[in-house]
Amino acid sequence: MTNEISVEQLIDLSIEENILPDHKFHYRWHELAEWQFDALCRSGLEPGHRLLDIGCGPLRLGLRAIPYLEDGNYFGVEAFPPYIRLGQRVLRECGVDKRSTILQSTMFEFEKFKATFHFAIAQSVFTHMSDDQVRHCVTKLQSVMEPGGRLLFTYIVGRDPSGFLYGGVQPMVRLGVPDASWFDGLASDLGLRFECSEIPHPTQEVGLLIF
Ligand SMILES: C[S@@+](CC[C@H](N)C(=O)[O-])C[C@H]1O[C@@H](n2cnc3c(N)ncnc32)[C@H](O)[C@@H]1O
Repeated sequence: MTNEISVEQLIDLSIEENILPDHKFHYRWHELAEWQFDALCRSGLEPGHRLLDIGCGPLRLGLRAIPYLEDGNYFGVEAFPPYIRLGQRVLRECGVDKRSTILQSTMFEFEKFKATFHFAIAQSVFTHMSDDQVRHCVTKLQSVMEPGGRLLFTYIVGRDPSGFLYGGVQPMVRLGVPDASWFDGLASDLGLRFECSEIPHPTQEVGLLIF
């Protein structure tokens, strides 16, 4: 068994789950799986840490992170049920048998995991939310992040917010912040620290919030 999946396998599984192959998502699977895993490891993720993957999708990062982390230390929350089903199939296809916990929710109900987290990640997720949702998400994180815990997230500068339907079904908003100081303001309102990350991302900006 291998933890790798080919784009062809991924597309076959997606079609079986009625998910249209997406030129950005499916064809950049490996690049952005590797980016997320590498960025977390460079930020200090270790196997004994608990990781919360916000907007985990069909486990693009999970497939890399679940085998790396100690059993049970990966937690994902996802809005779109077909992605959760696809993620479970991806894990089975690749023979990943370590435990992980996935919650379907759009409301940032992190307390339902009954766990605290050393790291959280939201890769290409705040770009699918309104600014009120981002604020709500970070506020809800406060009670579940370990002291010193880190949220690594990506964002886009300077795009006008607009609405769209994810997978043609799930209503979402595309957030573009005027500049990184938007996150500075959020951090100072909530008593957190914001840093622009030096880790380069292929298409977005990268930020860190430290709890
Ligand atoms: C571009 S995808 C990124 C998926 C994943 N982070 C990755 O990089 O592989 C954005 C994901 O965020 C999810 N999402 C958007 N709003 C959400 C919310 N309020 N709660 C949980 N997930 C959400 C979407 O359903 C989608 O799976």
